Amino acid sequence: MRLPLVAGNWKMNLDLPKARELVANIRADLPAGPIELAVCPPSIYLFPMAKAIADTDLRLGAQDLYHEPNGAFTGEISANMVRETNATYAIIGHSERRHVIGHHEDDRMINLKVRAAQQAELVPILCVGETLAERQAEQTLDVLTYQLGAGLIGCELAGSALVIAYEPVWAIGTGQVATPEQAQEAHAHIRRELARLNGQAAAVRILYGGSVKPDNAREIMAQSDVDGGLVGGASLKADSFLAIARETLAAKSQ
Ligand code: PGA
Repeated sequence: MRLPLVAGNWKMNLDLPKARELVANIRADLPAGPIELAVCPPSIYLFPMAKAIADTDLRLGAQDLYHEPNGAFTGEISANMVRETNATYAIIGHSERRHVIGHHEDDRMINLKVRAAQQAELVPILCVGETLAERQAEQTLDVLTYQLGAGLIGCELAGSALVIAYEPVWAIGTGQVATPEQAQEAHAHIRRELARLNGQAAAVRILYGGSVKPDNAREIMAQSDVDGGLVGGASLKADSFLAIARETLAAKSQ
């Protein structure tokens, strides 16, 4: 039995008062039931958010980290620094880091980051997903195979040590969500690949991300290999984030 996880990826949004208000509103109305919720604020807000959730079951995650333990890497933060904030999770290889920001992270760097996260006893949320051009060229499953194989070299593949997020690039922030069938096909493929890599495929949680909203969450979360969501835009309001959590609970208790 995989405990559903709904994680809010705030990206570079909110200011500190708004972040505190969001967490206060989330913690005031946490759903009762077998589900885990996490917030992933900008790194500069990790410590204050850790304090704001300290006496709750809400989990904390970072949006990225750097793979080296220390050194002359101006502007970066290490896995141990993230761990010091009491974070549980670290998103690694998000599509905006692969395709939008700076020098575009490749699978080799992403692999180093996944390993660094695990060494610091953080649970990486490894993001994988195809671009629109790759989907149109019917390369989706091959892309997922490659990103998993490369991203997970030398990593711990236990269910407690790893979360995967399937995030089709064309669905992120676009309002264009994958159909439940597209999500299930990709998730089932990811689970088969985890098995092939000798992972605890049945125990690893695989989240769907890309324009998850309260009104599309239930159908997606009802898919047998979808174990929750990585939510961007809809995680910036307590109402929509909590509604997605409740839809997930409802879908999984059917
Ligand atoms: P979105 O972002 O929900 O705004 O599409 C998801 C993500 O990037 O994790």
